[in-house]
Formats: sequence, structure tokens, C-alpha cells
Amino acid sequence: MSLRSARLVWSFPIALSAIVAACGGAQPAAEAPPSSDAPTSPALPEGPEASSPEGAEAAPSWASLKTFEEKRAFMGEHVMPAMTPVFQGFDAQRYAKFTCMSCHKTGAQEGSFKMPDPGLPKLSPADFEKLPKESPKVFQFMAEHVTPEMTKVLGATPYDPQTHQGFGCGNCHVIGG
Ligand code: HEC
Ligand code: HEC
Repeated sequence: MSLRSARLVWSFPIALSAIVAACGGAQPAAEAPPSSDAPTSPALPEGPEASSPEGAEAAPSWASLKTFEEKRAFMGEHVMPAMTPVFQGFDAQRYAKFTCMSCHKTGAQEGSFKMPDPGLPKLSPADFEKLPKESPKVFQFMAEHVTPEMTKVLGATPYDPQTHQGFGCGNCHVIGG
């Protein structure tokens, strides 16, 4: 790997803080080792493996994640790649820039990422009668694409109206009267 690509990899904040920690916080991370044949600079070769568990193919289930940091990473590694094509497939122009903030309208700004997000359109019980008639395309997109795809990527159980358990509209949108 060239130094250039190494720098790119290392430009991620998490990796960077790992280096800074490993270096005791003082040294600039990307500086060349003083001796040209120094075989192992302490942090660089091991860092990425140490800070990001490998096996991105085997996604952990969302429910098993404990820390905020794990959840944040899961969103970037699994939710974004799954949901970006869903939204862009529906409206490529409107969702040309699909980001964390597309769902976390207010939560991404204040940093809590709490869901449901009050910045998304609020849904009332009446909307569930009206929407299918008045905005069938949007309703169908939300009910048949966004919700099932998100349920799948989270490894969640679909919302069951009988028990009110499971993942549904109300996990993203505030539902109120
Ligand atoms: C498609 C919509 C969507 C996108 C895009 C999205 N998220 Fe999320 N996010 C959710 C939902 C839904 C939840 C709540 C899941 C649950 O527990 O029901 C969530 C939960 C979270 C949580 C946990 C919050 C808590 O209360 O502990 C974090 C952190 C988070 N997201 C960060 C991000 C980041 C960072 C990005 C961008 C890389 C992102 N999300 C993109 C839908 C989204
Ligand atoms: C994973 C999160 C998520 C789930 C689950 C979800 N939505 Fe959405 N919804 C969004 C996002 C993101 C938007 C788009 C906001 C935007 O365009 O800026 C949206 C937009 C909407 C809109 C407004 C569309 C428009 O044209 O302005 C309606 C209405 C809606 N959703 C209804 C629903 C219904 C009904 C369900 C359940 C069947 C549902 N949503 C499930 C995230 C979600």
C-alpha cells in the first residue's frame, strides 16, 4: 500500500484517534519514521484491524449492539449502503444527496440521533387512512420499500398492528394525534 492510500485510510476520525492514543497524543501521525528501514512503525500496520472488527459481510444484528459508537458505525456500514439505493431509486433527484440527515433531520444536528425524529413529517392516525388514497405513490414507497428494507437491514421484526411490536413507520416518524 502506498503512503498516499495509507493516508486516505487514516483520515477517518476513529482511526486517527486510535493513532493519537497509540502515540501518546504528541506525534503527528503521518510523519515518516526517522530510520528508513525501521521495520515496524508502532501504530500504522495494526491500527485498522484493531479499531474496526473485520467480517463486514457478517453483519451483527442491530439489537445486539450496545454502545452509541457501535450503532453509529453500523449505520454507516450497513444502513447507508442498503437505504441509499432505495431512496434514490424512488427519486434520484430529490435524494441525490442521501445522508445521515435524510432520516436524522434534527438528531444528526444535535448529535443524539434519537429516533423517531421530530424533523420528519409527523403522522397522525388519520394519515394512515388518507395517505393511501391521496398520496398512493409516497405511501407505497414508504410501506413497501423503505420500511421493509430498513426492517431487514436492522434484522428487526416487522411491525404487528395487533401487538404494536416491531419495526414500522413510528420508528422513524413521530406518530401523534
Ligand atoms: C434510512 C434512515 C436512516 C439513515 C439514512 C440513518 N439512520 Fe441512524 N437510525 C435510523 C433508525 C430508524 C434508527 C433507530 C433504530 C431503532 O432502534 O429502531 C437509527 C438509530 C441511530 C443511532 C442510535 C441512536 C440511539 O438512540 O442510540 C445512531 C447513533 C445513528 N442512527 C446514527 C446514524 C448515522 C451516523 C447515520 C449516517 C451514517 C445514520 N444514522 C443514517 C435510521 C437511519
Ligand atoms: C427508516 C425510516 C422511515 C420509515 C420506517 C418510514 N419513513 Fe416515511 N420518511 C422517511 C424519510 C427519510 C422521508 C423523507 C423526508 C424527505 O424527503 O426529506 C419520509 C417521508 C415520508 C412522507 C412525506 C413524503 C413527502 O413526499 O414529503 C410520508 C407521508 C411518510 N414518510 C410516511 C410514512 C409511512 C406511512 C410509513 C410507514 C408505512 C413510513 N413513512 C415509514 C423515513 C421513514
